[in-house]
Amino acid sequence: MKMKKKLALVLAVVMMISLLTACGGKGTSLKDIQKAGKLVIATSPDFPPFESLGADGSVEGIEIDLLNIICDKLGVELAIEQMDFDSVLPGVQAGKFDVGVSGITVTEQRQKNVLFTDPYCLAAQAIVVTADSPITCKADLEGKTVSVQTGTTAESFCMEAGYNVSSFASNSDAQAALVAGKVDAWVIDDLTAADMVKSYNKDKGEALIILPEAMTTEPYAFAFAFGSEDLVKEINGILAELVADGTVAAIFEAHDAPYTAP
Ligand code: ARG
Repeated sequence: MKMKKKLALVLAVVMMISLLTACGGKGTSLKDIQKAGKLVIATSPDFPPFESLGADGSVEGIEIDLLNIICDKLGVELAIEQMDFDSVLPGVQAGKFDVGVSGITVTEQRQKNVLFTDPYCLAAQAIVVTADSPITCKADLEGKTVSVQTGTTAESFCMEAGYNVSSFASNSDAQAALVAGKVDAWVIDDLTAADMVKSYNKDKGEALIILPEAMTTEPYAFAFAFGSEDLVKEINGILAELVADGTVAAIFEAHDAPYTAP
């Protein structure tokens, strides 16, 4: 009788474990993508120089170049799905897309929900203000209203810091709010700040200014659903190679962006 009870318990535990792993199977394996012939990426193309819309409407940028090389090495096509940034991680987690490619910062909170590759670069949060702004450093943001993109690390950082936060689905709208004087500052990742401010200032002089104070450290990586471990391992190997042989640095250079290795 005792033995039977033990056996029943063991069986119940085994069944529970297999049920759990079956339910958690939202991930993508190397075999899955090779069978499909493509890797489907989820991206918010409002984040130059990492991903933005080119003149012909196609998505281009550092991460697209990088993913094209990775896909070549995996022997699959790159398929791009566009969406707002705050839909990228939930979509990946739900198994709708293979991987989130969107200048995504690795955070402890996000690591609870998705599986990140190794980071391939480091960025930071920057403060953008108008030329006539009295704000000259981070300390001046206290009690001020800042615009950010919804679901980003800029949003969580500014909320934690206690600023009045105005969130926008797209980065261009966050920038527009600053230009229209609806907010006192715009907080956004540094390389995208540099790119977007340069484009905006092109025919407007020094209308927007990036303050020389980096606020966080943001390692960027690609996000998969749990269950994609073998594919992530494969991609980590490719990424390490591309960082070590200078390919990643060369891609940044081709996009006029300074590269900081992780
Ligand atoms: N690095 C920031 C984050 O992970 C911002 C990313 C925004 N990306 C985008 N494609 N709009 O939250």
